[in-house]
Amino acid sequence: MTIELQWDIPADGDLKGLDALLGEVARACFRVEGIRGAGFAVRMVDDEGIRALNRQMRGIDSVTDVLSFPTVSYPAGRTARSCPKRLRREFDPALGCVNLGDCVINLCRARSQAAEYGHSLTRELCYLTAHSAFHLMGYDHMNEEEKAIMREMEERALGAVGITRDSGDMTYEHLFELACEAMQNSYSPYSHFKVGACILAADGRTFKGCNFENASYGATICAERCAAGNAIAAGARHFAAIAVVGSTAVAWPCGICRQVLREFSDLSLPVIVGAYGKGYFVKTLGELLPESLSPEDLGVTV
Ligand code: THU
Repeated sequence: MTIELQWDIPADGDLKGLDALLGEVARACFRVEGIRGAGFAVRMVDDEGIRALNRQMRGIDSVTDVLSFPTVSYPAGRTARSCPKRLRREFDPALGCVNLGDCVINLCRARSQAAEYGHSLTRELCYLTAHSAFHLMGYDHMNEEEKAIMREMEERALGAVGITRDSGDMTYEHLFELACEAMQNSYSPYSHFKVGACILAADGRTFKGCNFENASYGATICAERCAAGNAIAAGARHFAAIAVVGSTAVAWPCGICRQVLREFSDLSLPVIVGAYGKGYFVKTLGELLPESLSPEDLGVTV
């Protein structure tokens, strides 16, 4: 278990799957730092809860967004990766890993900051968790240099789980550009038709994919399913949009890919589809796959 999510206030319905997502974020932070087998507690509180803690623990009587309480005291200028012995001492049998400490998040503040930045609450919670994770690993932002280092670590970790600085206010154009970037990695020595895709998940994360072919032609995987696989493996289950680009012609999604997209989105899903350097069309999944079989038809709610 990488994180243990604790609710001091009622858990919110729109935060389904949050522990899995924050676990992904925490593991990405550990990978970027270069440590393994660590975890920490994430406690959700409200304005009053964080104010009380801030007062008790730091003598500061004010509301804030996140507080971090590391279990390890790192020597000046050092972070978790260079203190393996100190970390090992904090092995916690309940967590099943080294307990780095506590991250306390003010859900009220997270909600207002998300609205202010124009991104989802989930996304804001991922930011706050990553920020706290680096504090728990010995990072700080007392001066500009430290701040820049910590920010870069956060961005690398969040980028690895599909959260980029600008994916919050995504446009079709930008999603299409990301698909074009993904297309560069296409493995298509048989058809020579490169395809790139980028899925925008409902929680604001983006996932890229490209086609990868096979000597046994039928084993080929399309760009859309590659992107979908990356999204699913990172815990995303609801797609908000997809862009697909072909290197020499418009890459209309094949039948299998249309059906795969239907599993994780409804028929209003915008499908931005085009050819490299030649612009794009915006269709809906319903236009590409009318009368489709959906998970709901088989009694499944995704
Ligand atoms: N391809 C995709 O990646 N997505 C589609 O929806 C259409 C087809 C790829 C598969 C194969 O590598 C190449 O394009 C030619 O069919």
